Amino acid sequence: MALTSRHLLRLQGMPKDDIAQILDTAISFKEILNRPIKKVPTLQGKTIVNLFFENSTRTRTSFELAERRLSADVLSFAASSSSVTKGETLKDTARNIEAMKIDMVVIRHNAAGTADFLSKVINANVINAGDGQHEHPTQGLLDMYTLREKFGKLEGLHVCIVGDVLHSRVARSNIFGLQTMGAKVSVCGPATLLPRGIEQLGVDVYHHIDDVLPKVDALNVLRIQMEREAGGYFPSLREFHRYFGVTKERLDRAGKPITILHPGPINRDVELSADVADGPHSVILEQVLNGVAIRMAVLYLLGASE
Ligand code: CP
Repeated sequence: MALTSRHLLRLQGMPKDDIAQILDTAISFKEILNRPIKKVPTLQGKTIVNLFFENSTRTRTSFELAERRLSADVLSFAASSSSVTKGETLKDTARNIEAMKIDMVVIRHNAAGTADFLSKVINANVINAGDGQHEHPTQGLLDMYTLREKFGKLEGLHVCIVGDVLHSRVARSNIFGLQTMGAKVSVCGPATLLPRGIEQLGVDVYHHIDDVLPKVDALNVLRIQMEREAGGYFPSLREFHRYFGVTKERLDRAGKPITILHPGPINRDVELSADVADGPHSVILEQVLNGVAIRMAVLYLLGASE
């Protein structure tokens, strides 16, 4: 069955059945990733363009791998070496690429709303790979997949998102997606790194990490986004680590195992200590693998809607 939209722009407002369908479809694609031959002909004949206007390691390689595993023709476009540097607009760039008869566009951009805009000016399916501080829907989906795989369900889980929520598109996608699937979401961080009015999204707000640890099943620890000037919102990285850093000592004091997620890239020993990042309760590298399966599922389901 096709998804209700032909684009993936956000998890806010996405129907529960659509999210469940993507998560369920990703199970079969993960199974393919574990085979000796990891390629299927599902998107043979389709052409997908990856438009990355902002740096990325995980998302870009994960989309490219997912597209190639599905046998699509793949074109990856780095804004820094394109005619964007000569002043060409996003609309003109996208429409010129589309004139070459492409089927899908994956876009990452530092401006919120870019994927939405693109979906209105081109006919190809558009997938948001992160737009400014707005949303990162495939990250939210892969986080949910990883949690569901670990706990067997999302309904009733309590997940706390820790750190630089203010600048985080991952936080927003997690909040919307997890709540739709019946999980409870809290946020924890210094007041300066939590968006004003965030409780209106239905989350509980904590300013002391030791208060929330005994209550949660999982922490999704966010990167301090220094490139978005997050360092100006608290006195020093050392102080942030002392009050909000997720450390082994803190987790031990909570008296129960807590699953640790992080979307990457990690600032080791700032938001997350190295022994926790590499420890037995970390699912960070599983998130990376699951990201390929989730992106295969999204590409397949959107491709199937045509
Ligand atoms: N999680 C994530 O979006 O990482 P990248 O910025 O490396 O793509």
